[in-house]
Amino acid sequence: MKAVCPGSFDPVTMGHLDIFTRAAEHFDEVVVLVTGNPNKRSGLFAIEERIELIREVVAHIPNIKVDWWAGLLVDYTTAHGINALVKGLRTALDYEYELPMAQMNRRLSGIDTFFLLTDEKYGYISSSLCKEVAKYGGDVSGLLPDPVVHAVVEKYRAQD
Ligand code: PNS
Repeated sequence: MKAVCPGSFDPVTMGHLDIFTRAAEHFDEVVVLVTGNPNKRSGLFAIEERIELIREVVAHIPNIKVDWWAGLLVDYTTAHGINALVKGLRTALDYEYELPMAQMNRRLSGIDTFFLLTDEKYGYISSSLCKEVAKYGGDVSGLLPDPVVHAVVEKYRAQD
């Protein structure tokens, strides 16, 4: 069975990587799907940069592919014959955010969403919090995969 792990991943964190890794143990193939339009610049990293960083950090896991999509998630999953979504849940806030999306996606296409609870090491990590800490020179090592730490530091250095 194939699954998609969708998200903006701006940038990918250790929490995301943990979810991808665990999803790949349960599903035959996992597509990490970066959502967003490559022609519209929004966020810190361009879609292509997010994809490259994810490819680098999942390179050792053979059943993970990385792709991007700018439309409805269920149009991608239906077109590729995928009938599972996998998301990570950190807190009740994530649950409140994810529940209507899971129900809407199921209504639209019948797809089920599977939730993995975050590892306790990563429960407080988010892309936005890591970016804010890194922007002001704080240490994000261990919170982001090493190549991502370097990329974020370089990105903010280039913006100075
Ligand atoms: O990392 P994020 O921003 O929490 O990811 C949210 C995401 C990308 C999963 C959600 O915005 C999404 O599914 N976008 C694709 C467009 C779509 O299908 N929207 C309807 C969702 S019910």
